[in-house]
Amino acid sequence: MAGKETRLDKYVAEGAGITRKEAKSALSKGRVSVNGEVCKNGDSKVSAEDEVTLDGRSLKTEEFLYLMLYKPARVVSATEDSRDRTVLDLVREQQAENADSVGDTGFFLGKREIFPVGRLDKDTEGLLLLTDDGELAHRLLSPKKHVDKVYFARISGEVPEDAVSRFAAGIQVGQEYQALPAKLEVLSSADGVSEVKITLREGKFHQVKRMCHEIGCEVTYLKRISMGKLLLDETMQPGECRRLTAEELEEIKRS
Ligand code: URA
Repeated sequence: MAGKETRLDKYVAEGAGITRKEAKSALSKGRVSVNGEVCKNGDSKVSAEDEVTLDGRSLKTEEFLYLMLYKPARVVSATEDSRDRTVLDLVREQQAENADSVGDTGFFLGKREIFPVGRLDKDTEGLLLLTDDGELAHRLLSPKKHVDKVYFARISGEVPEDAVSRFAAGIQVGQEYQALPAKLEVLSSADGVSEVKITLREGKFHQVKRMCHEIGCEVTYLKRISMGKLLLDETMQPGECRRLTAEELEEIKRS
């Protein structure tokens, strides 16, 4: 027996988290299909058994949304802030820009409450995952789960000879804590400026900056380049965001 029936324009509006007017406009442009056939009639009825897509994207199958943001500097890793622009502001702006065509990597926020998985400082750039999947977020951030976060940093000051071994042993940060063992790779060094790659398993406040400070260096530029098996897509521009691909999602879930 067929399930409860709903008007198509209502179903599309609710499934995509857009207004009824936007849903009607998408329908009239032929962006909606029901069971593989384009349908422009918002009055037609659909039920849970029907496969309804907008721009080729199913409107019912996804439990959670996963976005990769190339966080730019000068934006805070928060969902709202009274003073600064937030990463959620960037996501909303991008959704508005893509409203006419979501394509493969666009997304519908709808009523979802996505949040950033961990924080990057306001002046830090790079990979930030946003999702409404709390369980995955918790796992990726737990130091016990040993999910590596890799940063590229430009630091000023001479890197001491024992810096790599001090990072590997677990640096004492101020009076507060001993960091878990971390990896420091010096990529280049000239005229008192070095480019380094740092791999951490935890994410304490200003941790990279504070660990570098402990070896007598100051971070002048910081970018996160990976989290577990998820790599920052360097073809994106700072400020851009997109859905994770199916492969990326599989990788991050296995991280
Ligand atoms: N470590 C820092 O010092 N800042 C960040 O944003 C991330 C890691």
